[in-house]
Amino acid sequence: MKIVTVLGTRPEIIKLSPIIPLLDKEFDHILIHTGQHYSYNMDKIFFEELGLRDCDYSLNVGSGTHAEQTGKIMIEIEKVLLKETPNLVIVQGDTNTSLAGTIVASKLNIKVAHVEAGCRSFDKRMPEEINRIVIDHCSDILFAPDENAINNLNHEGIPDGIIHLVGNTSVDACVRMANLFDSAKLDTLNLKRKNYIVLTLHRQENTEYIKLKEIIKAINSISNDIKVVFPVHLRTKKIMQSNNIKVNNNVLVTDPMGYKEFIGLVANSKFVMTDSGGLQEEAAVLNVPCLILRENTEWMYLVNLGKNLIIGNSYEKIVSNVKDLLNDEKQLKKMKVIRIPIEECISKRIIEILQKI
Ligand code: UD1
Ligand code: UDP
Repeated sequence: MKIVTVLGTRPEIIKLSPIIPLLDKEFDHILIHTGQHYSYNMDKIFFEELGLRDCDYSLNVGSGTHAEQTGKIMIEIEKVLLKETPNLVIVQGDTNTSLAGTIVASKLNIKVAHVEAGCRSFDKRMPEEINRIVIDHCSDILFAPDENAINNLNHEGIPDGIIHLVGNTSVDACVRMANLFDSAKLDTLNLKRKNYIVLTLHRQENTEYIKLKEIIKAINSISNDIKVVFPVHLRTKKIMQSNNIKVNNNVLVTDPMGYKEFIGLVANSKFVMTDSGGLQEEAAVLNVPCLILRENTEWMYLVNLGKNLIIGNSYEKIVSNVKDLLNDEKQLKKMKVIRIPIEECISKRIIEILQKI
């Protein structure tokens, strides 16, 4: 069987990293990079750290509006799929890269397998929610991370026969990396174990200028009580710079980090604050409490378990929730005591299912 995998952004590279070598081994496998992410620390660094091979096609599409970016990716992917005529295309997650790969493949009558199917935030203002719905409804094989995702797919009328509960591929990558962190890095950054917060922020709805200014005001207030480490996504960096949004001295702003360094910092933090999807899952795997800077999440099962907490994205809610938690070790411990089932070798399970098609 000939399989094409399409990726293009930081989380896709990380989450597909355990699957790619297995696909290379078991199938005639072609890897396409759309170039949605292209800066070294959003792209190449992860190929190096995770020991991934070079891509067979680099489409170098870059940034743009949603329509420009998705359209350009579709045009370029179509050329490759017409040339390679694979039996199956694999996409991961909810990005414009995954959307474009899915639409092109399904219109060429090539089967699509979606890794991380069935996640829903039920908030169509998020571009990712629109992508998730379209991708799942055009896919032929759906790899769901949890029961919630399966229920979502069932409610939308997607037949059970094409859905496979496999778990989450980020577990494989995250567990592998967490053990490699050199804790001397904490000294270099002047950080004390369990005495700082890690913050990430990049969602479209949180990086619109007025909202971003409000969130950073809240972070500045929190930083009076505890140090905050903030590896800034390049979308966010651009908006902070062009609007002169400044952080206080106790907020350590860095460029986007490599995976090993980032996961190590998360594992040693008191808790994380984020709007990232990937980080919500990783924090749970690393048993670090996670405060979600959004009104909803597609990883609701972690919230329902009491492992992660939605705190919203307004100044008042962020400051009051974080200050409460900083003064409530009992609540933090309660979140940490909750154990989630961590199943490894998810990628192997995906390969086994593909071999039976
Ligand atoms: C995209 C995904 C989002 C995912 C995120 C992971 C969509 C709709 N969004 O959002 O779901 O959570 O990736 O990080 O697909 N930029 C650079 N260099 C890069 C990449 C981006 O400078 O390598 C800057 C550019 O100014 C660009 C902006 O970041 O315009 C946004 O990039 P884009 O890929 O459009 O969206 P993300 O916010 O990264
Ligand atoms: N990440 C990283 N360095 C950073 C910030 C995040 O390696 O400085 C990793 C993080 O561990 C997770 C992934 O990037 O695996 C999440 O990507 P992002 O938050 O950009 O996207 P999302 O998961 O929200 O789609």
